[in-house]
Amino acid sequence: MEVKAWVILTLTALSIHGSCGQEPTETIETTENVEETVTSTTMVTTSKEVDIASTINEFGYKLLVRIMQQRTNDNVVISPSGVVGLIAMALLGSVGKTYNEIAETLGFSQDILKNRRNHEQFGALLQALNTNVSSKTLYADAMFVDEHTPLREIYRKYLNDVYRGDVLNTDFKQSEEARLFINEWVRNHTEGNIEKFLVHPLPTSTKVVLLSALYFKGQWEQPFVPEYTMKIPFNTTKNEVMADLMLNFGHFRYSFSRKHSLHILALPYNDSETTMYALKPRFPKRLSILELMESLDYKEIDEIISGMSKKKCVIRFPKMAMRNSIKLEDTLKAMGMRTMFTPGLANFALMVNSNLVANRTEEEIITDIDQGRIQTKGVSDMINGLPNPGLHIDSIVHDVKMTIDEYGTEAVAATSAILARSAEQFYADSPFYMFIRNERTKLVTFSAVIFDPTVTIA
Ligand SMILES: *[C@@H]1O[C@H](CO)[C@@H](O)[C@H](O)[C@H]1NC(C)=O
Ligand SMILES: *[C@@H]1O[C@H](CO)[C@@H](O)[C@H](O)[C@H]1NC(C)=O
Ligand SMILES: *[C@@H]1O[C@H](CO)[C@@H](O)[C@H](O)[C@H]1NC(C)=O
Ligand SMILES: *[C@@H]1O[C@H](CO)[C@@H](O)[C@H](O)[C@H]1NC(C)=O
Ligand SMILES: *[C@@H]1O[C@H](CO)[C@@H](O)[C@H](O)[C@H]1NC(C)=O
Repeated sequence: MEVKAWVILTLTALSIHGSCGQEPTETIETTENVEETVTSTTMVTTSKEVDIASTINEFGYKLLVRIMQQRTNDNVVISPSGVVGLIAMALLGSVGKTYNEIAETLGFSQDILKNRRNHEQFGALLQALNTNVSSKTLYADAMFVDEHTPLREIYRKYLNDVYRGDVLNTDFKQSEEARLFINEWVRNHTEGNIEKFLVHPLPTSTKVVLLSALYFKGQWEQPFVPEYTMKIPFNTTKNEVMADLMLNFGHFRYSFSRKHSLHILALPYNDSETTMYALKPRFPKRLSILELMESLDYKEIDEIISGMSKKKCVIRFPKMAMRNSIKLEDTLKAMGMRTMFTPGLANFALMVNSNLVANRTEEEIITDIDQGRIQTKGVSDMINGLPNPGLHIDSIVHDVKMTIDEYGTEAVAATSAILARSAEQFYADSPFYMFIRNERTKLVTFSAVIFDPTVTIA
């Protein structure tokens, strides 16, 4: 018997290419003389620690809104934590302007020591996500490195300590084997749900591929009632479609905000630590989902959530299965991470050594920073002076698959007094925003905007 449940899956892959002109096939200008134009790393002197979960959720929310602006009226499903998990691995290896931009856009501290603490906090939260009880969340990341690319040992160690990332040597010249190898890793870490992640081989100039995978499978605490799932009109922004809308009723956390003209509903999973929130405009004809979301930030949503309370509710929610694969380069550039994509300017000097002979001095400096033996003063200059190994990020692919259904037949509660007059109605029958949050870590693991639940692949 097939188990009915929510299944969500996300993969983010980032591939890094050489931009030094060592590749005979590459036509990029030589970059030997590129001067690091950045002054020393900015000191951020706030004594308050960054609340890392809020920081990541805020970034994830902005990312989603950006994608919505770029892909008008298309369904979008992303994993904020998965994307940040990946970019954080790149941040860890970057210096100079590349570092400053990534840190600033993510909301991580630019001060090198505080930045390291941000990584440690975030890494701990990601590990804390992993559970394998009644619902399952699995986070994994890895790095595939070309055999001739001298990865810094210190980076390898840090990646493993903080993000539990495997480092796997890969010969990208054997592009078909490399593709199969990466796909095998993906299959291994997504419970076999994504069989063919890379459809085409990567270019042979690939030096590094970073991957993060996040998998979630959960069951509703209060399942929907399958007998009542039916085709009901759903108003997209353009027309009306007939969508399978499921039905639920009972006591749920709910709130509406007159100020923001929205209402929000919480649908808990039965692991008592994961919740899905669904949010939509109260009057969709007057305020579109995009306008509503542009007027909010994650902090305000968090405040609205704090004000939610249990109400009697009648809920209509689409049953759907969707997958989208998004290339994130343009969105991330627009958000301020330009340099990491720019050949010759991108600098991943902490990830990869520029020459094959390890420079003990540099390694020692970095070790001392990691172990807190050096104060920030002066360190930034030293780090920014490391020779640029000439690598840039070529692409970031984010692939998410999601299934939502009723789960549960025995839950056809005897309650047939469904449409009690006093109940709040939350009908997701026009575009809405939803996200899944792990309440223990507060990390938003998945978020989506559904414009048309009948479109399964975006
Ligand atoms: C989760 O639990 C199931 C059954 O208890 C087991 O087969 C599976 O290997 C576990 N997965 C992980 C990642 O621990
Ligand atoms: C995938 O899992 C199998 C079985 O555990 C293991 O032998 C193999 O090395 C794994 N492959 C990768 C790329 O992680
Ligand atoms: C959908 O749009 C039609 C036409 O504008 C309108 O009559 C109907 O009330 C709308 N339905 C919902 C659920 O908003
Ligand atoms: C959650 O649902 C699963 C599947 O029905 C069940 O095995 C498990 O006992 C439930 N857990 C709780 C806490 O209700
Ligand atoms: C090692 O790196 C330092 C700092 O970048 C530099 O001053 C020194 O010349 C390098 N040593 C060797 C042997 O390359």
